[in-house]
Order: sequence, then C-alpha cells, then structure tokens
Amino acid sequence: MENLLTNLITENVPKAWFSTLDNFITKGKNAEVWDSKGNRYLDFVGGYAVLNTGHLHDKVVNKVEEQLKNFSHSCFAFAPHENAVLLAEQLNSRYPINSKTKSFIVNSGAEAIENAVKIARYFTQRKQIISFQGGFHGRTYLAMALTGKDKPYKEGFGPFPEFVHHAIYPYHYRDLSDEMALESIKKLFMESVNPKDTAAILVEIQIGEGGYIPASKYFLSELRSICDEHGILLIFDEVQTGYGRTGKMFGAELIDVEPDLVTLAKGIGGGFPLAAVIGRSEIMDSIHDAGIGSTFGASPISCAAALGVLEAFDTEDILTNAQDQAILMNTFLHDLKEKYEFIGDVRGYGPMLGVEFVDNKVNKSPNKELVNKVLVKSRENGLLLVSCGKDGNVIRFMGPLTTPLEQVNEALNIFENSLN
Ligand SMILES: Cc1ncc(COP(=O)(O)O)c(C=O)c1O
Repeated sequence: MENLLTNLITENVPKAWFSTLDNFITKGKNAEVWDSKGNRYLDFVGGYAVLNTGHLHDKVVNKVEEQLKNFSHSCFAFAPHENAVLLAEQLNSRYPINSKTKSFIVNSGAEAIENAVKIARYFTQRKQIISFQGGFHGRTYLAMALTGKDKPYKEGFGPFPEFVHHAIYPYHYRDLSDEMALESIKKLFMESVNPKDTAAILVEIQIGEGGYIPASKYFLSELRSICDEHGILLIFDEVQTGYGRTGKMFGAELIDVEPDLVTLAKGIGGGFPLAAVIGRSEIMDSIHDAGIGSTFGASPISCAAALGVLEAFDTEDILTNAQDQAILMNTFLHDLKEKYEFIGDVRGYGPMLGVEFVDNKVNKSPNKELVNKVLVKSRENGLLLVSCGKDGNVIRFMGPLTTPLEQVNEALNIFENSLN
C-alpha cells in the first residue's frame, strides 16, 4: 500500500480492524471491483456474502434514488413508512413457514440474532439457548456468546451472557457425524440443561465463518423433532444462507424443515444495512408494546434497496444463474480435488462452496499457511477471496449470484493458477 494510505489507516482506525485489500476500493459493478490504482478484481468476497445481486444492481439503485427524492429516515416506531411494510409483507409471504408470520426489521445480523433470542425467551418464558460449535452469529455480547468459535471473535472479551450452550455441529469430513451431533444435545439435556427450560436451538443451515459446512436434511429435521418434543423454538440463522446463496431463495427450502423464527441480513439489502427476524405471528405478537424496536431499523433507504433486490430476483432468474454457477464450480473444484493432494474437501449447498486445504489427504492436517498464500496469489491475479473455518484452512466462494458464467469461469481459472 502507498505510505499515505497506510498512514491514514493506521493513524485513524484501531489496528484490530485491519483490511485485507491494500488499496482503497473505488468502484464496483456487479462482480467486478476496481481499486485506487485502477486494478480490476473479480469480487468473490462480495462484502462478506452481502452482494448477492452484485455491486450497484440497476433495480436497487433505481429504488434507492426514488426514495432519496422523498425522505431518508423516519423511526418506524414513530412514523411508519410504506417500504418497511411492503418488505415485511414480502418476507412473510416468501419465507417457507407454513403459518402466518410477521417480520421485524433491523440493521445487522447480530441485531437480528439478539432480537430472535429476546423474542424466543419472552415467548417461552425459558432462559437456556443451545447453539453450535463452529457457528458464528455476530459481534455483540449475546451474539458473541452464541458464537462457537473462540478465535478471533471471543478471546479476551468475556465474561459472556450465561445460559448459552454449544452442541456439536456435524462435520463429516472430520468424522463428526449427525448422530454424534444429536447425541451431544441429549448429553447437554442429561448433564447441564433442562430441556423444559430451553427457549431455543439456534442453527445455521450451512455454517459460514466456521468453515462452509452444510448440515444435512436429516440432522435439521431431527433438530425440529427435538424442539417439538420439548416445546423449544427452532431458530434458523439464515444471515448467510439467505436469498439464493444455497441455490434456493432460502436454505429452509432446500432442506424442507420449518423453523419457528429465522434471521436474515447480508444479501437482503443489496449492499445497504438491513436485517430481519421473521417468525410465526403468535410468537412475534407475544411481546408487549415497544418491547422491541430500533432507531435505524427498517431504514426507508435500505428497505427501498431490499425491494429492488426482490424485483431483481423476480425478473432476472437469478436463482437459475446461481444453480448454473454451482454446477460449474462443483465440477471445476472437484476436479481440482482429484488433482491436488492438498485439497481435502469441496463442499456446500449451491454456489456457497468451500475448499478445505490440508497437508495431505491422509493426515488431513489443516493447512492455513497454504490458504494464505493462495489468497495472496489470487488477489495478485485479480480474484478476491477469503478464508474461513476453525483453523482458517477453508477458502470460500461468495461471489454475486448475478456473476455471468464467463466470469465464474475466469475466477476458477485464476484460482487454479494461484494454486500452481
Ligand atoms: C450466519 C451469520 N449470522 C450472523 C452474522 C452477523 O451479522 P452482522 O455482521 O451483520 O452482524 C453473520 C456475519 O457474518 C453470519 O454469517
């Protein structure tokens, strides 16, 4: 990075909040971004799985521009506005819960998680919450407590809110089976958590930060049964799997299991900050008046952008493109797995794919060092990617679902060249 930029950053923002890219980003269009030196990249980070409809989708821009002619903010709790209600109506009708639902709209994934747990505890009048090892749910205190990955998210930040427990998340490549994961919940119930005092089980359909590990339909339907047996609410954290990332609009469609509550964020705002909790009406309406709220929640601008995102999904067959991307990427990445001893696993729903790097296929030792080299090399070659996983040894693909297939091909070729 030019010294001037380095100084500007190091002088003004905390060092823990460091950036990976070493130039300012200056322009983005769909899956392409340019930096201040004019370098062009394919963006398979997508603002951390936010830009499902790409940078500056025309329909998002149009809706935002239209809204900006009228007003920019009104706290919904005081002055309601149409965009928020239209969006809530869309979320209620689209999310696959087979009873009447209502939606509460907030700003970020962590805020949605906090509210989902608040609502679950209030409705059930129970305090215990079960989430999963390797799961990630955000940076606020309760979201941190629920997160099952210590480094870098939790280390040194305790104490955390209590009554949160972590069960095993299935990880077939590392020999953690669905049965072992389900057994770990039963063990919690036997040893430390009263199921009749458990408000909710919170789970990602495919773990994101924890290593792009998909959960099976069997595992998630067993979670549904455990919840039904004990009157526990099932919360799906679809912050990362939401809006097409798995090849279906929502992850729940893919596995055909209904949660009681769901959190969405990232892709729903088309690049503007927005999140939501959707839940069965009887649960959402159990809260006393003004018991939930948020000054900036349901920003008219972000909601306008979100309506643009939905219009894009409705008119441009983005889901078909996402599924085509998945076919292309799976074929290519599985070929790489056959070719290279250091690629241990390729996995994920739809185009939400992770590639796990190991020393070799027999010892399966996580190879973070190689991942870091590949990330740097890819960047030098014009492809933006990031890692994930407990050991930082998984490279994940989070490009726009609107990326033309030629550019997906281009990205995959850059990836392979970087391996060499
Ligand atoms: C599954 C999941 N839940 C929650 C969050 C937190 O979202 P936010 O960063 O918007 O607070 C994230 C962010 O990466 C996530 O991947």
